[in-house]
Amino acid sequence: MKVQSETVVRPARNLRGSVQLPGDKSISHRYAMLSGIADGPSRLENYSTGADCASTLGCMRALGVTWERKTDQNVIEVQGRGPVLSAPSTPLDCGNSGSTMRMLSGIVAGQPFSSEMIGDESLSRRPMERVIKPLTAMGARIESQQGNPPLRITGGSLKAIDYKMPVASAQVKSCLLFAGLFADGETRVEESVRTRDHGEVALRAFGAQLERKGIGGGSEIRIRGKQRLHGIEARIPGDLSSAAFFLCAAALFPGSELTIPNLLMNPTRARLLDVLMQMGLRISVTQLEEINGELVGSLQVSGGTLAGATIAGADSAALIDEIPVLAAIAPFTRQGIEVRDAKELRIKESDRIASVATNLRLMGAQVEEREDGLKIPGDQTLHGAELESHSDHRIAMAFAVAALRAQGETLIRGAESAAISYPAFFEKLEDLSER
Ligand code: S3P
Repeated sequence: MKVQSETVVRPARNLRGSVQLPGDKSISHRYAMLSGIADGPSRLENYSTGADCASTLGCMRALGVTWERKTDQNVIEVQGRGPVLSAPSTPLDCGNSGSTMRMLSGIVAGQPFSSEMIGDESLSRRPMERVIKPLTAMGARIESQQGNPPLRITGGSLKAIDYKMPVASAQVKSCLLFAGLFADGETRVEESVRTRDHGEVALRAFGAQLERKGIGGGSEIRIRGKQRLHGIEARIPGDLSSAAFFLCAAALFPGSELTIPNLLMNPTRARLLDVLMQMGLRISVTQLEEINGELVGSLQVSGGTLAGATIAGADSAALIDEIPVLAAIAPFTRQGIEVRDAKELRIKESDRIASVATNLRLMGAQVEEREDGLKIPGDQTLHGAELESHSDHRIAMAFAVAALRAQGETLIRGAESAAISYPAFFEKLEDLSER
C-alpha cells in the first residue's frame, strides 16, 4: 500500500527570501537521455532532484548506460554508450513520468531489440497513441493496451517521417526528433502551436544539426538521421515550473520580496512571467546568460495588488504546467481567472481541471468547471480545508500556495506527490513564509 503523507499549511502574511531551484525537469530528462546515446562522458550539474528524472536515469541504466550521482550540487556523470544501447533485462519503469515514456520511446524505437515500458497507476491511464502512431509510421512495432501503457516496442531500422502533430506536445516533438536521429533520411516535424523547444536546444548542444523555421504561430523542425552526438558539460538552470509556485505565492501578498537566482528563462517557457507581471507582480531579471543554448537569469520579485487574467489559445499550451497554480490563486485576484483551450489538463498526472475545481470548492470558492478550462471569479474569501493531491505533484503544490491566503489551516493529503518534481518544496515554502 502506498503511504500517504499529510501536510498542514498555515496562512502566511508575506513571502520573503531567496530560493535556488533544482534543475529544470524538462531539460534534465532530455540531457539524461541524450548523454546516454552520445559518444563520451557528460557532466550534468544541478540535475533535477525529482522522482520523474530519477525514473529516466533508472531506464537509461537498464538500457546499459552507466552513470554516477555525486551528491554535492546534484551532479550526474554519465558515460555515453553511443547510439546503440543494450537490451534491457527488466521492463523500463517510467514511474509517474509521461515525459520519460514518451520521449524515451523515440530512442528505444531506434534500437535493435525489444523493450517493455511500464508506469504507475496514473501513467498507465495516460494516452500513448500520440507517439505510437508516428513511431509505427517510422517502422517501429509497438504493442499497447488500447493506446495506454505498458508499451512493448520492437525497434530497428527506422525511416524518416514528415509529420504534422495533431496535438501541441513538446514530449511528442522531442520523441520524434530523437527517433529521427536513428532514421534513414530527414525527419520533419511540424507543430501548429509553438511548444517548449528544449529538445531542439539540447540536440544542438549535444552536437546535432537541425533546422527550425517558424510557420504561422508554430514551427517546423528538420533533423537528418544517423548523426552522432558528443557528451556535454552542463549546469542545468532552475526549474521555472517549480518557481511558479513561489512566484504565485509571492503574488498573493503586496509585501512579498523574493530572489530566485539561476532560473531558466527560455522564451518558450517564460510566458508565466509576462502573465504575472500583467497581473501586477513586479519582476526584474538580471544576469542573463546563455548556457548550452538555454537562457538563464536571476529574478527579483516584489508583490503588488493582483489583477485577473484570461489564459486561452497558444497561451494555454505555453502555460500548461502553470495553470493549476494560477487557478489556485485566482480567487484572490481582483477580477478572477478564466482558462480556455486547455483540455490537455484533463490527461495529465490527474485530471487537473477536476482536481483544481474540487479543491477550490472544498475551500469554499465558487468555480465554473468547463470541458476545456475553468472560470474562477476573483475577490473571494477561502477557508482552510482537507484537500487531496489526487496523487499529482502540481496539485499538491498549487494548493499549498492557495492555503497561504485561506482563513485557517489546510491539510493536504498525498503531499508526498510533490517529490515527483520537487522533493524539498514544502520545507522551502515554510522557510519563505512569514507569519
Ligand atoms: C513537457 C511537456 C508538457 C508538460 C510536461 C513536460 C516536456 O507535456 O506538460 O510536464 O518536457 O516536454 P506535453 O508535451 O504532453 O504537453
